[in-house]
Amino acid sequence: MSKSVLLLPGDGIGPEIVSEAEKVLHKVNDDYKLGLMFSTDLVGGAAIDATGDPLPAKTMAHAQKSDAILLGAVGGPKWDDLDMAKRPEKGLLGLRSGLQLFANLRPAVLYPQLASASSLKPEVVSGLDILIVRELTGGIYFGQPRGVRTSENGERQGYNTYVYSESEIRRIGRVAFESAQQRGGKLCSVDKANVLEVTRLWREVMTDLAQEYPDVELSHMYVDNAAMQLVRAPKQFDVIVTGNMFGDILSDQAAMLTGSIGMLPSASMNSEKQGMFEPCHGSAPDIAGQGLANPLATILSAAMMLRYSLGAEKPAAAIEKAVSKVLDQGLRTADIMSPDGRQVGTREMGDAVLAAL
Ligand code: IPM
Ligand code: MG
Repeated sequence: MSKSVLLLPGDGIGPEIVSEAEKVLHKVNDDYKLGLMFSTDLVGGAAIDATGDPLPAKTMAHAQKSDAILLGAVGGPKWDDLDMAKRPEKGLLGLRSGLQLFANLRPAVLYPQLASASSLKPEVVSGLDILIVRELTGGIYFGQPRGVRTSENGERQGYNTYVYSESEIRRIGRVAFESAQQRGGKLCSVDKANVLEVTRLWREVMTDLAQEYPDVELSHMYVDNAAMQLVRAPKQFDVIVTGNMFGDILSDQAAMLTGSIGMLPSASMNSEKQGMFEPCHGSAPDIAGQGLANPLATILSAAMMLRYSLGAEKPAAAIEKAVSKVLDQGLRTADIMSPDGRQVGTREMGDAVLAAL
């Protein structure tokens, strides 16, 4: 049966990087006879400009019936002054929550070719291979009530609610334990259980779940310490599991350990294996349209899409190998440029991956 892939290029550098990933996907689709059907739709600022809505009903319906989604990036200064509910980011958050994509997998892997691009010493990061499992449809991002109100003394007051139910913790916990089983067998659950009740419950549920996974070594860490440990000795981690907001912050930090956030893909999955795949980086409006962006994170996201949602491991591995090969060849976009590298633009990098395939 043929599978459908929805491309959502979005804003800023989104269209440039998605079009490189699209070339790569078309090639493996032909070479491996995957029978994938592609279509494209609007999200984020692009959708606001066309329809006034960051997540038009048509895009949502389209997403719902797709097997997998490849998203570029959303947002930019043009839409910064809009109301919270109308901002481009709402498009992304609406897709995550509407499709119940609760499990966000963010690998931070250091390519040996890029060891010198990290801001940390090569010996601290070489061989780094961490997986952050971030809860994506709950926590303070979605908790109710939220808003800005006027308090009794007439002062404005902003508020959000940090809430997790036990079932939400349990289902992300299972994803994390199972990931750890398939990797190094170590799971670190990150919380703020010394201050926040919601994460005390988080810790309790994770501890309870651990009994079902005797082959996984579970540890707990407060988020402030985790932030410190990530730059002090990042290789102590295998899999990290944490809530939505802590995961947002720690995944950017982990990404940068690898030299460039421009290299890191991500997967957001629901329980039906339907997924949305996107680079960890944002829309980079400052370099949009100039052919400077690194398309590798999006190309690697396409590989994750093949692996996790489309059941196509072989082409996924082939894409990853091709990316490693172009790095071996010394090709570098500006963000990962090194003295001995040859600087190339977005399209040239995409073409090089195609050729390496
Ligand atoms: C991310 C991004 C998003 C988030 C923004 C764009 C809403 O930072 O995917 O990490 O906060 O989740
Ligand atoms: Mg983020």
